Amino acid sequence: MLNFKDKVVYQIYPKSFYDTNGDGWGDLKGITAKLDYLKDLGIDYIWITPFFTSPQRDNGYDIADYRAVDQRFGTMADFEELTKEAKARDIGVMLDMVFNHTSTEHQWFKRAVAGEKEFQDYYKFVDGEPDSPPTNWVSKFGGNAWEYVPTIKKWYLHLFDVTQADLNWENPRVRQELKDIILFWKSKGVSGFRFDVINLISKPDSLQNDDIGDGRRFYTDGPKVHQYLKELVADTGIEEMITVGEMSSTSIDNCIKYSNPDEKELAMTFSFHHLKVDYKDGDKWSLMPYDKIAFKQLFKEWQEKMTDGNGWNALFLTNHDQPRIVSRFGDEKQYWRESAKLFAGVIHLMRGTPYVYQGEEIGMLNTHFTDINQYKDVESLNYYNILMEQGKNANQALDIINQRSRDNCRTPMQWDTSENDGFTTGKPWIEIPEYGKSITVSSQINDENSILAFYKKLIALRKQYRIISEGNISFDIAVPEQIISFQRKLEDECLYVIGNLGETETQIIVSESLTKGQLLIHNYSDDVNIMEKTLNLRPYELLAILL
Ligand code: NOJ
Repeated sequence: MLNFKDKVVYQIYPKSFYDTNGDGWGDLKGITAKLDYLKDLGIDYIWITPFFTSPQRDNGYDIADYRAVDQRFGTMADFEELTKEAKARDIGVMLDMVFNHTSTEHQWFKRAVAGEKEFQDYYKFVDGEPDSPPTNWVSKFGGNAWEYVPTIKKWYLHLFDVTQADLNWENPRVRQELKDIILFWKSKGVSGFRFDVINLISKPDSLQNDDIGDGRRFYTDGPKVHQYLKELVADTGIEEMITVGEMSSTSIDNCIKYSNPDEKELAMTFSFHHLKVDYKDGDKWSLMPYDKIAFKQLFKEWQEKMTDGNGWNALFLTNHDQPRIVSRFGDEKQYWRESAKLFAGVIHLMRGTPYVYQGEEIGMLNTHFTDINQYKDVESLNYYNILMEQGKNANQALDIINQRSRDNCRTPMQWDTSENDGFTTGKPWIEIPEYGKSITVSSQINDENSILAFYKKLIALRKQYRIISEGNISFDIAVPEQIISFQRKLEDECLYVIGNLGETETQIIVSESLTKGQLLIHNYSDDVNIMEKTLNLRPYELLAILL
């Protein structure tokens, strides 16, 4: 298997990236138009979230036809042009394969509910009576995870929205259909794939209620998931391509298996535990300040254990499902620039393949919408209603949605200060936040002190220094709560990365005299306050020193 240790991936949410035809939706041509910007950033791959034909109930993660471009994004010719132009700039294209479920608008599902037994076997259908769902499992978007179809007297499983029906991977015909989809896109010259919630595909043989949870323990990293992945990869010949699996509520042991090259499954995995550190009692809709100790501890565990097991992490702090990192763990105001750079440094200097989510490289913020009607995301709208039913008032519910909504990172890319921040000449599909014009690509592109310039530098350093792409990693735990400190080691070199996650200045003692080292990167524009064996770190200050 190839490795992707010195590569960086840029994630594009096409609906909000760049619109070339003025309909308020980003499109494939818009991505092609911005390839020079991406090349200049230094990234190697773009992962484009689904642009296939879809009713868009879950913004394209509900696919009705896996082989067709949804016309709102353009045409197949636009896709071919994009791939060609990307290749000409040495940028690979990664597609998002949503194989746990299809839209209920997919032909397979329509034929199933029309009574065709053959297609009923494509999904998780169970015979039953209308008032008793097969289990008490909870959908990840709220409510029971089963829906009844009266005409055929069967329930179907949907771990996500009611319009996203879970596929039956037990059926070899389903597995063959999915392999054929990969082969179809492979033949179009794509470089790799991201697999949506791929660790949920193998459901247990017998269905039972979950008396202590929402059901996830029965189907997460399920009984045959590794077998199915091995088969998918071998039969489509994608071992040498860049592949990443999105792993919901997974474990380190499973991620080692998914990404250890000897297993011939995937090149790397996304896990999310480090982003649940502000969920009170593990509940996304229950707010608490983020737990810095848990945040560091989780990175320590995942980084060190994945290294020991020869697994490989995809590194990220934000994506199209997460709030903006500066708003979430940083400081939007006084230390906006420093905190955005700090979190970028933490991610890009760790062991793994970094992912940059559109807008992160300029420090975009959460929406701060003032009305629930400004939100579009199905999960946010469902949970707003659930929170109200639970007794929250409208302000409280809105406050929670403001902090947790997936729309926080789905608003349009802020290119410049023209109308609609240069995203579209039409009416954007979702409102642009009020702060929009104050944070744009155009205001940062020529500023060497900008967040954008910092990302460029981090991406370039990974290619320049093998210690960043290849080095081992260990974390210091005997440091103050707000300090994150880890070392990368390769042969006789050592890279010290030290950051202040907090808003107060903090002094730390370091074991080596860092004064003798070379400062590779620093997120403040003036000197580092470094003495023989002590270091004074200002709010959100980060530095990396090579010894
Ligand atoms: C994970 C995707 O990232 C998310 O956006 C989507 O809603 C779910 N999977 C369901 O496909």
